[in-house]
Amino acid sequence: MTAIESSYTVLPEDVDRRVIEPGSFVADTEAFIDVRIPGSVGKASYSFIGPGVSQNDDQSINLTEPHGFNVGGAAMPHGVVNNPHLHYTAEVFICTKGSYRFFIGEHGEQHIDVNEGDVFSVPTWVFRGFSNTGPDDGFMFAVLGGDDTGGIIWAPHILAAAAETGLYLGKDYSIIEATNGSAPADVIAPLTAAELISVDSYSDAELQNQLVRPRDLDWADHGLLSSVLENHDVKVAPVIGRGISEHRRHLAQVMNAHGFSAEWLKIAPGSSTGFHQHDDTQVMFLVEGDFELSINRGSDLVSRRPSTGSIVSVPAGSWRDLRNAGSTEALALVVCGGDARTVLNWDEDIVAAAGSAGYAIDANGYVAPTQMLGLK
Ligand SMILES: [Fe+2]
Repeated sequence: MTAIESSYTVLPEDVDRRVIEPGSFVADTEAFIDVRIPGSVGKASYSFIGPGVSQNDDQSINLTEPHGFNVGGAAMPHGVVNNPHLHYTAEVFICTKGSYRFFIGEHGEQHIDVNEGDVFSVPTWVFRGFSNTGPDDGFMFAVLGGDDTGGIIWAPHILAAAAETGLYLGKDYSIIEATNGSAPADVIAPLTAAELISVDSYSDAELQNQLVRPRDLDWADHGLLSSVLENHDVKVAPVIGRGISEHRRHLAQVMNAHGFSAEWLKIAPGSSTGFHQHDDTQVMFLVEGDFELSINRGSDLVSRRPSTGSIVSVPAGSWRDLRNAGSTEALALVVCGGDARTVLNWDEDIVAAAGSAGYAIDANGYVAPTQMLGLK
């Protein structure tokens, strides 16, 4: 736990830059060397925050500022395949539309089905690919660990299949196209049999534990100090790592270090989180419902109404409040940078009102009844 060091005022134009609306999502169908392999044509990749692992130097990126993690997305027609490759850092998929089947292993020996509302954290150092098993193009957000993910390694047979289509991977991970039918000179060589042995493997049960489905979630009524108050009916459910939850019994299903945390927030109509700040980078995925996001307080207040499906980057240190401005329940996934807990600093009015309602934050940073804390 670290104390909040300073408050940061965000300019209105900076808030606008950080609200990434579905209308500004730019699909790249040339991002990887496997895009011409039969069965993989039509897969679309998105880079929203940070460069991700795209192998296309021309990829459009909505927000390039380092967050300690990258945010991207994927969509593809039914039956289209994203081929086996390996990541060095965390790769977490948030399925917001449709269904996908993930294949794990060099030749896809294991599989995991991922449906709408599921979050799947693929272990590092294993080959993974997926195909769309849903009725339409579907959509998954992807969060990658680190500002520099170190790139990816393709399964050897995919490098060979891509070469058949004239595409190779340069040593700087950029795509090189064969000219006059001959292979370029300086390209990445496939892993050798000896190197393939050092790739990790996981049991089916271990892989299943990396999948956090809606029915697995542990929703806490009092996961935030503000949630003891009327008009702040916000429930928190941890998914990955430690995060903003102030419920002392909360533990995410996936706890290995990712470099970021992930938690679902469920906000009742008319309710909001209440103003708070913290020192970590934060990205909010506004998955369901109608939201109003407010940044800064007082005369600096900036409020925006991002469309459903938007993602929002909230700078470290800034005051923020997320409100359900609609008439149905709102659902957001909140990702914070770092592996440590994200310690919240609550607006003075929230602290005072919670105190009047009999609640405060204990010495360990969790919501507790004031009468148990020896506070007057
Ligand atoms: Fe990947």
